[in-house]
Amino acid sequence: MAGNPIVARSLDEIKFWSRIMKEHALFLSLGFTYEQKQLIEEAQGYIALFERIEEKLSRFTLDSDLRQVQAFNSEVYQAAASIYGYKRKVLDLTLSCKIITNNFPLLVDHISREAAYFANRLQELNAGKLAPTPDKVIEENVFFLKIMADHAKFIGHLLDPSERKLVDQAREFSHDFDQLLFQAVDLEYMRPQSETKPILSHFLNQNKVSVASLRDFKKTARELIEACRIKSNIHPLLADHTFREAERFLEIIDLFETNLSGR
Ligand SMILES: [Fe+2]
Ligand SMILES: [Fe+2]
Repeated sequence: MAGNPIVARSLDEIKFWSRIMKEHALFLSLGFTYEQKQLIEEAQGYIALFERIEEKLSRFTLDSDLRQVQAFNSEVYQAAASIYGYKRKVLDLTLSCKIITNNFPLLVDHISREAAYFANRLQELNAGKLAPTPDKVIEENVFFLKIMADHAKFIGHLLDPSERKLVDQAREFSHDFDQLLFQAVDLEYMRPQSETKPILSHFLNQNKVSVASLRDFKKTARELIEACRIKSNIHPLLADHTFREAERFLEIIDLFETNLSGR
């Protein structure tokens, strides 16, 4: 007998996003210069914080008590909200030119959006909302399409300029996802109702095809980076990280498709 779906979904979101948050803190810490010690220490504090959360998570099971999971969700929410604040602080310092780091402002903004998404998911789960509801399909796609478009841009900019072919490919993905993002925004303005399911399912299908191909590109890039066969400023863990986020988007699209088809 399966336990409460809110318990299962909460544990799944925390498992995926806590690791992501921990890695963001690592990437931030590696991007600072040697004199930015305070900011490095703060980043390291977040690595430890999310490691403790992962450790706690390992003690929960699908049969865990809903109230205990809800309390854990609130605790993790605090951590996600806190790392969000830290990321926004780093972004403000960067945008006001008070610090120069090796992380692009768009990347710092990007990881703050992911923290906000995580915090929001936890709040929704505690409000009893399971997966993002079908009427939120477009909004959720707007979020993830921008995430994917940003990834393509990061990869393109962090590859060595002499890796011309890969840089071109990354640029094509960037363009492709910018178009999909605009298309999603167009649809968001149209606010399709439930009778327009065919429009939504075609929209999801298009996204799926592009995300799958970006996911494969990231996988190839990750393998090349791990084997030291290409020149770049990309940490192998960053390559894997963006790969996992593409996989997550594909899973979410599948979830939406199931919801749309009325299960
Ligand atoms: Fe991320
Ligand atoms: Fe990301």
